[in-house]
Amino acid sequence: MQNRQLGTAGPQVSAIGLGCMGMSPMYGANVDRAESIATLHAALDAGITLLDTGDFYAMGHNELLINEALHTAPAAHRERALTSVKFGALRGPDGAWLGHDGRPAAVKNFLAYSLQRLGTDHIDIYRIARLDPAVPIEETVGAIAEAVQAGYVRHIGLSEVGPETIRRAAAVAPISDLQIEYSLLDRGIEDEILPVCRELGIGITPYGVLSRGLISGHWSRERTTDAQDFRSVAPRFRAENLDRNLDLVEALRKIADGKGVSVAQIAIAWVLAQGIRHATAIVPLIGSRRRDQLTETLGALDVTLDADDMAAIEEAVPANAAAGTRYPEAQMATLDSEKK
Ligand SMILES: NC(=O)c1ccc[n+]([C@@H]2O[C@H](COP(=O)([O-])OP(=O)(O)OC[C@H]3O[C@@H](n4cnc5c(N)ncnc54)[C@H](OP(=O)(O)O)[C@@H]3O)[C@@H](O)[C@H]2O)c1
Repeated sequence: MQNRQLGTAGPQVSAIGLGCMGMSPMYGANVDRAESIATLHAALDAGITLLDTGDFYAMGHNELLINEALHTAPAAHRERALTSVKFGALRGPDGAWLGHDGRPAAVKNFLAYSLQRLGTDHIDIYRIARLDPAVPIEETVGAIAEAVQAGYVRHIGLSEVGPETIRRAAAVAPISDLQIEYSLLDRGIEDEILPVCRELGIGITPYGVLSRGLISGHWSRERTTDAQDFRSVAPRFRAENLDRNLDLVEALRKIADGKGVSVAQIAIAWVLAQGIRHATAIVPLIGSRRRDQLTETLGALDVTLDADDMAAIEEAVPANAAAGTRYPEAQMATLDSEKK
């Protein structure tokens, strides 16, 4: 497994990270704990070192899962694993989303609980999931910087914030990486956000690289989603948009077939290739939640795309071709990264 330096201030991490969200009931209630642990172990065994989670992924469930996986893995694998944890999202007992809290006291409180659930004395990269509009980013990042000084956190990350917030945060303390949606369907970061990150030496850890499964090559019109599955409310999966989006996947499949690889591997390889194109550390977080998905994901590291391949892919899925926004309207409004 190749490693990447995540921004000038960040750690060395594997070229692909494992996003663990789907191992908790965020993409449907049907999660398999034994398979999740086996997938985490297989990822560590394959050399993946970066594990991404959020304290609000099923209210601590995801962190407890990672704790179990790390503490049942060989010591050498556990020791090289790096945890990337998001905090700040407020949840109700019914699972409702109640906003975000970035106050310094809240940061300390979230951190104390995460350390306990993860069974560790430090978190490698800590970030607020969404900007709290009531708290200046300087105060939230300042609180994490204090936790770095105290040894509870190693690096500071950001999530779904735009150029101005990135600059303000970076003026307070070194930032390792920005976590943000980036895929063939979502290239919005290329105009302003990516250049600012490159200028400031901040890496990018894209999520949604498979557009939450939509462009994995495994989604179909017949697939059903339950109420706990984000995709049941995601505009791109809605009937009127799904047909158009799956047409894009079929165009991509022709290219994948021609190269003898899978659609998911082409989609991941395209994002990996952007790191070279934009001279920035781009380390995709792929949400493989089963071992077969992980195997497919790892195969993307062996896919080479030349200029002709890149042109063909971008002709099959032109920028802004996706039908529907990446989040429902109310959630789009909470994204600092989408502010015009
Ligand atoms: N900062 C943020 O705001 C934010 C937001 C969302 C996520 N994240 C992080 O980013 C990570 C990745 O995001 P994501 O899970 O939404 O994105 P993703 O990688 O685009 O989608 C993962 C989903 O795609 C499907 N899939 C099909 N084939 C796959 C394959 N070969 N490998 C992997 N997945 C395959 C799976 O769904 P099925 O099993 O249902 O087919 C899986 O749950 C999350 O786990 C989380 O840690 C961050």
